[in-house]
Amino acid sequence: MLLVLKPNSDELGREAARVVANAVRRNPTLRLGLATGNTMLRMYRELVRLHREERLDFSRVVTFNLDEYLGLPANHPQSFHHFMRQNFFAQVNVAPRNIHMPDGSVKGDYQQYCASYEETIRKAGGIDLQILGIGRNGHVGFNEPTSSLGSRTRLKVLSKETIEDNRKFFAANEEIPQCAITMGIGTILEAKRILLLASGPSKATAVANAIEGPLTASVTASALQLHGEVTFIVDREAGAQLKQQEYYQRVLEMTNILTPERL
Ligand code: GLP
Repeated sequence: MLLVLKPNSDELGREAARVVANAVRRNPTLRLGLATGNTMLRMYRELVRLHREERLDFSRVVTFNLDEYLGLPANHPQSFHHFMRQNFFAQVNVAPRNIHMPDGSVKGDYQQYCASYEETIRKAGGIDLQILGIGRNGHVGFNEPTSSLGSRTRLKVLSKETIEDNRKFFAANEEIPQCAITMGIGTILEAKRILLLASGPSKATAVANAIEGPLTASVTASALQLHGEVTFIVDREAGAQLKQQEYYQRVLEMTNILTPERL
């Protein structure tokens, strides 16, 4: 596990974009797992800039999004489809046929639909780099506390906490979806490499639990401890409750693998 601590959310976004851009340059047909949420906005903004100013080419990149609210059609302004189109896809050259996102408007046999999403990932050869945010309760994707650590793409009922946190994305009089389709923890752990971004004080407990806490379904991000190629990029506020700061400082001094700005 690599921990990169950044002084603020702008630098966090730039660092995340740098990692993604390097991966795309190394492998132009990268299979890239994508996430939504406020934390991702700066990363997407920087990737758009790199596309425009430095010709970062996404034309052969294949994308898979983590999750989508159930019951929201792709054109709903609060859907993750809309978020992705507005903040990334419409501004870069990812080929529409290479974009994969769970369909929130799917009806009927959800299990079969979710299995087909898994199959699409598998047939593409798996995900090379998965980007993740983290919920206040330590969820990744929409894998709420008590999710099986071996779970696959499926329908999840959202926790009260998550519904509250996502209220900001919805108009006051609008009903927030109660369920979502999300990749499972087992799906996420199969990615070759994982990059988790966390910003702001509301994420500090979740970050500390995920990195330093026990492996537990109560904090599904703690399952990342089982993965050999995980990088956490967190800003100062999100890293504030990490207890082993002194050790991370020593690691930095000894190996110089952590970014030197701040611990
Ligand atoms: C939602 C998404 C997660 C995301 C989280 C954090 O719950 N399903 O994938 O990590 O929000 O979002 P934000 O970055 O807005 O705090």
